[in-house]
Amino acid sequence: MTPAATARAHTNIALVKYWGKADTDRMLPQTSSLSLTLDQFYTDTTVKFDPTLTADEVTLNGERLSSQASGKVQRFLDLVRPTGNFARVNSTNHVPTAAGLASSASAFAALAGAASRAAGLNLTRTELSRLARHGSGSATRSIFGGFAEWTAGTDDASSVAHPIDEAVDWPIAVVALVLNAHQKKVSSRQGMQSSVTTSPFYPAWKDVVARDLTTIRPAISQHDFQQMGEILESNAMRMHALTLSAQPPFTYLNGDSLITMQAVQDLRAAGTACYYTLDAGPNVKIFCQTADLPKITQTMADLFGPEHVIVAHPGPGIQFLSSPAKF
Ligand code: DP6
Repeated sequence: MTPAATARAHTNIALVKYWGKADTDRMLPQTSSLSLTLDQFYTDTTVKFDPTLTADEVTLNGERLSSQASGKVQRFLDLVRPTGNFARVNSTNHVPTAAGLASSASAFAALAGAASRAAGLNLTRTELSRLARHGSGSATRSIFGGFAEWTAGTDDASSVAHPIDEAVDWPIAVVALVLNAHQKKVSSRQGMQSSVTTSPFYPAWKDVVARDLTTIRPAISQHDFQQMGEILESNAMRMHALTLSAQPPFTYLNGDSLITMQAVQDLRAAGTACYYTLDAGPNVKIFCQTADLPKITQTMADLFGPEHVIVAHPGPGIQFLSSPAKF
């Protein structure tokens, strides 16, 4: 029996989004993408392979998952499991209560770390990034801290992330508005696939991403906040335009998303540099400079209540922790 291994991975928010696969079996994306790992939201996962088990046993936030609910985890474990071994997996999402921000990015990055170590493999971070990709595309980037770019690549080995600026010596923050914690109706997996196959704007999206990556990299390295902000906001809106232009059309935005977006535009018109982005859900995330946090958090707390406002900063890459004594 191999020893248990525990890994912690943080979630990330994309500034240039991944929205579409070129190869669904191999999890190769249509485009590269770029994100910032956040310190506030993370997953801790412990894995132990045990030859006496007859099936994988997966516990999430203290609740044992049914075999059906843990199908994605079981298939992921198949990539590393020692022959004939099933695993005990215990995973906890550290996200503020009912935040609805639990992310497949931190989940599969942590699982990649813990499962590979538990299987006796000592993978490099690049290899972990490749492995995490098979669980969820956005997990590819969560292996690294700070700003990271996932290069689309052309095959399994080349489709990996790399750090752009892990230390992030730049006083920036992300204000997350937690407006809706409900399960989304259209998963990102379904939503992006529908966008690829039915939106007439998909070819233009690929050009947008290529251009945005070219301009956002120097904005990040030169700490040009306005330039970075303008790109990340328009990139998010163009991603959401793909859902509105899909057949059948759908959207992740709700009324509160629009109210938040308008409030950010108003703050900006009044001289506060801040920019919004949204993933496959209605919760808006606002990029800002830390000096402007009091103004922005107050404005959002006045609109929605302080319990809906969470401040995050750049976070670290994958960490290996000592496993709980009894597991
Ligand atoms: C909008 O990584 O959740 O957050 O690869 O199918 O698991 P799968 O999708 P997922 O999609 C993330 C989409 C996004 C944009 C991004 O994180 O780049």
